[in-house]
Amino acid sequence: MTTYNLEKYRPTLHFAPQRNWMNDPNGMVYFKGEYHLFFQHNPNDSIWGPMHWGHAVSKDMIDWQELPIALYPDELGTIFSGSAVVDWHNTSGFFPDEPGIVAIFTHHLDKADGTPTIQTQSLAYSHDQGRTWTKYEGNPVLGHPTKVDFRDPKVFWHAETAKWLMALATGQTVTFYSSLNLIDWQFESEFGDNIGSHEGVWECPDLFELAVDNSEEKKWVLLVSIGDNPQFESGSRTQYFVGSFDGSTFTADHQEIQWLDFGKDNYAGVSFSDIPTEDGRRIYLGWMSNWRYANQVPTEGWRSQMTLPRTLALQHVGGQLLVVQNPVKELDSYFTKVVEIDDLFISSEESKAFAVDKPSVEIVLEIDNHDAKQFGVVLSHTASQKTVLTIDAETNRFTLDRERSGQIVFSENFSNHQELNLQATNQVKLHIIVDSASIEVFLNEGAYAVTSLVYPDKVCEEVVLFALDGTIQVTNSYIGAFHS
Ligand code: FRU
Repeated sequence: MTTYNLEKYRPTLHFAPQRNWMNDPNGMVYFKGEYHLFFQHNPNDSIWGPMHWGHAVSKDMIDWQELPIALYPDELGTIFSGSAVVDWHNTSGFFPDEPGIVAIFTHHLDKADGTPTIQTQSLAYSHDQGRTWTKYEGNPVLGHPTKVDFRDPKVFWHAETAKWLMALATGQTVTFYSSLNLIDWQFESEFGDNIGSHEGVWECPDLFELAVDNSEEKKWVLLVSIGDNPQFESGSRTQYFVGSFDGSTFTADHQEIQWLDFGKDNYAGVSFSDIPTEDGRRIYLGWMSNWRYANQVPTEGWRSQMTLPRTLALQHVGGQLLVVQNPVKELDSYFTKVVEIDDLFISSEESKAFAVDKPSVEIVLEIDNHDAKQFGVVLSHTASQKTVLTIDAETNRFTLDRERSGQIVFSENFSNHQELNLQATNQVKLHIIVDSASIEVFLNEGAYAVTSLVYPDKVCEEVVLFALDGTIQVTNSYIGAFHS
């Protein structure tokens, strides 16, 4: 009988539950020096099932401590996705003594009599930094007479109108509601008809403001995750809209579809609430999986992990305004440079391999392409397992190929290439983070992200830089290895 090391895919730098199933990040909030991560959790099995909110805390968003379950199902249903905010001024009346956290989540009720499921929004509050919770006795606080898909409330304080705002996924639209006390909600507007991708149900919206090119100018960004639809090859993924928001209505500046990530494995991501103003970052993380195969990935006893936390910014890249993402700076202290690379020429005659056998590896590359037709990086997990990152200079296409990366047979789609078009390839910057079961690639200072699961026997034995039919020059680059 073959015995497997069931912990072999457990990540070093990414949050994963100790046991059993996890999906979306929920209720992410910063309060009293701690980052809170709640998550969709089935504590009884390693596949999706009756949802609870699991809970973890961290001082730096990398090193997480899992705490007891925060929210259990009750007579109104199981606990689907949602958000959390600090009620600094006791608008809700839950905090007569000192501020605390309010969770706003979806109750999901399956009906035994065959009538449609019911999704409503409910509240819970905590006086002890999220350790224990009281459900509001007047739950639910928001329902809908006919909509079956009515979920994933993301609430934030809108200073200009001095109101709480909620973005809610409502079928294939996002509906905005407002409230003065988190309890009574008023319809504001609905966004999404005839715009964006409608390849699946809309889920887990988030709306926030970002500075444009680090200037005084600001724009609003609406993230919308799109569920898996078996008719399409891509599985679940996340689109975004850039536009304006007047406290009631969101208007997009563009018609074309924008994807947040070109990898398969970044879904249902939303941003932290209550990051202090002096910090000023918009920090986001997603569930690092895809509904197409999330229940089948080859881990046992536990399933799924989150992406690294990332800062989001709005930047013009070649005339296009993009949401740019990069891992948070807190990650830096986990890596030590083990190889520095400067003025290294690589040609078809000679690739260059660097041995780095560590639990997690960071690769930072600045590549000038002189005349190669293709170039890139091979992550050799073992002698026979590899993931190949290729840039094609003729088509300006970046490809991540995980066909030979290790275990892939659990899903027909898993080996499909993950690709995107770059605007130019004469100069390319790559920031790659490899962990036990994942590869996150940030291209050109985060202009494009490619987040991909892999299931090799080892993280990475060698990093190989290659060029075909010509020469590349690698400068100002390095490889870092994880140290505990
Ligand atoms: C997104 C999602 C949400 C829902 C939750 C249920 O992945 O489908 O819309 O609240 O997962 O676990």
